Amino acid sequence: MEIPLNVKEKIRSAVRVAVLTGAGVSAESGVPTFRGKEGLWRNFRPEELATPEAFSQNPKMVWEWYDWRRGLIAGLKPNSGHVALANMEKKYPHFTLITQNVDGLHEKADSHNILELHGNIWRTRCTVAGCTEGELVKENLETPLREIPPRCDCGAMLRPHIVWFGESLNPKILQKATDACRNCDLFIVAGTSAVVQPAASMAGIAASAGAFVIEVNPDHTPITERVDVHLHGNSGEILPLLV
Ligand code: OAD
Repeated sequence: MEIPLNVKEKIRSAVRVAVLTGAGVSAESGVPTFRGKEGLWRNFRPEELATPEAFSQNPKMVWEWYDWRRGLIAGLKPNSGHVALANMEKKYPHFTLITQNVDGLHEKADSHNILELHGNIWRTRCTVAGCTEGELVKENLETPLREIPPRCDCGAMLRPHIVWFGESLNPKILQKATDACRNCDLFIVAGTSAVVQPAASMAGIAASAGAFVIEVNPDHTPITERVDVHLHGNSGEILPLLV
């Protein structure tokens, strides 16, 4: 693909860059997306698995699903799209990577300024507010888990450090992401179906604040008509061309 000249110029002149990624960016690493042909939500009902209600009714089932996904992701490597974004971060004085992905692959690719809107599948926290461990988020890389559900040091159950349907995003992370959208001159939205809020509104926030918005996706999404440029294709091919 040839990157249009006006896009090249915007990329060259940008000073403040924000990028929003979704599951599509990890697809070429082998992580299933949620809504595609082979998407995870084709085989599972979100309300049966990714909700606080499901967890309180059947924590074992929910944890088995996360354990299975952790096992899927554990051996996977960042792809050229992740690497391109890590390289992009080095080129701009202000760069924020906002991701809906929970797989940790941006970090593995050596991106640093990452805002994980939906949490991280490798982290856990205690289900009991006020336990001596507090609500401390801990990394837990064990896969498969020795015990399901896994336990906190206080004896209570741990839960995945994931934002489930019906839960609010961490307000500090959301604020930082919104600020990055409002203050950037270039916004790239890659590999997201743009249907889950509040991430789905972020390209619009950036555009309203005057940013040039580039979408990278092999499909059309609800925001395609409103972006400045839609680059049709896989992020693993296109993002390296933008660096
Ligand atoms: P989706 O699965 O909804 O969308 C994936 C998008 O990636 C689609 O628009 C695809 O066209 C696109 N895509 C597929 N392969 C691609 C590739 N190689 N390069 C670029 N794009 C590609 O995933 P999200 O939009 O991330 O939330 O879903 C948002 C949230 O919904 C997720 O974070 C998750 C889910 O419920 C939670 O689990 C809290």
